[in-house]
Amino acid sequence: MKQIARQARTESRVIGLVPTMGALHTGHASLIERARKDCSTVIASIFVNPAQFGPNEDFTKYPRTFESDKEKLEAAGVDYLFAPEAAEVYPKNFSTYASVEGLSERLEGKSRPGHFRGVATVVLKLFEIIQPNYAYFGRKDAQQVRIISKMVQDLNLDAEIVTCPIVREADGLALSSRNVYLNAQERTAAIVLHRALSAAKSELAAGVRNALELQRLLERVLFAEKLVRVDYAEIVEAEAFEPVTWVSKACYILLAAYVGKTRLIDNLYVEPREPGSDDLTVQL
Ligand code: PAJ
Repeated sequence: MKQIARQARTESRVIGLVPTMGALHTGHASLIERARKDCSTVIASIFVNPAQFGPNEDFTKYPRTFESDKEKLEAAGVDYLFAPEAAEVYPKNFSTYASVEGLSERLEGKSRPGHFRGVATVVLKLFEIIQPNYAYFGRKDAQQVRIISKMVQDLNLDAEIVTCPIVREADGLALSSRNVYLNAQERTAAIVLHRALSAAKSELAAGVRNALELQRLLERVLFAEKLVRVDYAEIVEAEAFEPVTWVSKACYILLAAYVGKTRLIDNLYVEPREPGSDDLTVQL
């Protein structure tokens, strides 16, 4: 992979990287489509990264659909697929990790200790191996993108991080490789995350800026769905992901909830239309 990437650089190609864990869906495809617009060489990676799964998480049962993933990548016009083995990425005696402190301990990081250390480490390795000009990530994992952007800034990496919108099913459920775990009843219940965010969006449009009021609304909608257990429903500013009391700058409304045994996340991004303006644009 290093050799191919080096060759592409000597040919002055613009390299775009789309890191994934496979089980590809339209969300992943949207990142590839964006990369194809910006770059002359598009590289996708598939690696179910053991370092980002906790001991009681779904590493062993994570969906693996390598053959159909390969077909999808080819159809999407990806130039190269990098799919290393775990033993190549983490050989015996591997002991160096990347940790983005502070940010990684909150929200997703609090519920999934060590998760972001695993993510940052594997992404740093991919960046070193490929040295992409651009790397594409979905806003679905908003905290992950922020952590990677922070790492790029802190470690003076060259990759430019591009954040892509959340791709959803027709009924609003954010696409996720983990949606296959949901049975029919849970699949119906799972829409409540989008319903809660939509309710918050309406309140924001009606002028509500009080974070506590918005949070109560989210909880009211989420708690009404019996199959759903809320992990967190928080309103945070978009830099350090610290809670806010008032929505007046760029913020995320972040949700994490168990639907049955499946843990799902979703979010809404809101920012002032112009700096200092009370007029907000909302991305769901
Ligand atoms: P994975 O969950 O496979 O996701 C790969 C990329 O697809 C991430 O950037 C994710 O945010 C994006 N994505 C997933 N669902 C999406 C959706 N519905 N709309 C838009 N984008 C979506 O995230 C990971 O893998 C891993 O943590 C990884 C970055 C590859 C490191 O191991």
